[in-house]
Amino acid sequence: MKISIEELKQIIRPKLKMKPIIWRDEDNTLLLLDQRKLPFEEVYVEIRDPDSTANAIREMIVRGAPAIGITAAYGMVLAVAHGRASTLDEAIKELGRARDVLNRARPTAQNLFWATNRMLLRAEKAVHDGEVRSVKELVEVLKVEANRIFDEEFEAELKMGLYGLEKINDGDTILTQCNAGGLATGTGIGTATAPVRVAHALGIRVSVIAPETRPWLQGARLTVYELMADGIPVTLITDTAVGYVMYKGMVSSVMVGADRILRDGHVFNKIGTFKEAVIAHELGIPFYAVAPSSTFDLRSSVDDVKIEERDPDEVRKIRGVPITLDNVRVFNPVFDVTPPKYVTALITEKGIIYPPFEKNVPRIIGGDI
Ligand code: MRU
Repeated sequence: MKISIEELKQIIRPKLKMKPIIWRDEDNTLLLLDQRKLPFEEVYVEIRDPDSTANAIREMIVRGAPAIGITAAYGMVLAVAHGRASTLDEAIKELGRARDVLNRARPTAQNLFWATNRMLLRAEKAVHDGEVRSVKELVEVLKVEANRIFDEEFEAELKMGLYGLEKINDGDTILTQCNAGGLATGTGIGTATAPVRVAHALGIRVSVIAPETRPWLQGARLTVYELMADGIPVTLITDTAVGYVMYKGMVSSVMVGADRILRDGHVFNKIGTFKEAVIAHELGIPFYAVAPSSTFDLRSSVDDVKIEERDPDEVRKIRGVPITLDNVRVFNPVFDVTPPKYVTALITEKGIIYPPFEKNVPRIIGGDI
């Protein structure tokens, strides 16, 4: 189906109801939809400083790689909008401190480091080139940059949606993992859900199977919530049913998001993704990771990337209710890594990348990362 990005924007925009990240310009305040409370309560948290921004990322008020990146970009604006800096030199120091605080919030999603670096570099350039003469002017420049990061993400997701459409046939069922939807990116569209949303908007019949995604239940609480709100058919399964639904022929392809993708095609994503990829490979089902170029890390190798381990109580309890002995030893890694041999292709805003990734990732993503 031939459709331009502009036409797609006209079709998709009115359908997007969710606003997970809002910047309130009048009083320089960041509003985050509290994802810990979904799908039962829609509550916004107001944030005015980088430390609270980092805390919101750590506590998963906001989560998902691109949404974390956008939030961190606004966190950098807050560092100077409400900070103590009265000179441009002090403002740059304050931004350096904010970047370090934000970068420590969570270790795996590349978009976080990409966004804080981009904001700091933009500030340094504005000061160095004499583009700004006061902290107030610097705040305005940084607001524009943070808004640009948001808009670029929106545009990238539409493009990924269009590229991903090539991989969806009428009547397909897509298995995903976690929430790689509009909540995870802040835009309302999503990464893995972008091709699904575009297909649905164009009248192609497509449905989703969402594993619940223990322990934080992003699949059950968030993916189900946002797809049902958009009228996209979704079936919830337990994480342990993944192999069976694929074996039963219920899955046309697997589409997941990513927290980081390396130059050789290793995909870091929510725990459970690796299992889906191996089973898909074994059964001849295509496995796609859908991610913008801000998720790519062309410098690190697999062992450099820290896999976040979270509070053992996330496993000992479900939503605060104990399900085991309170002193049991727990291992709670929240991401895993899928080796390139299991990845059919990477769907990005710059095009679909096929193996050999070592050659094609730098060629297509290259330069600006
Ligand atoms: O721990 P989370 O909820 O931040 O993990 C999110 C994921 O793993 C997503 O799949 C990933 O960020 C890609 S989302 C667009």
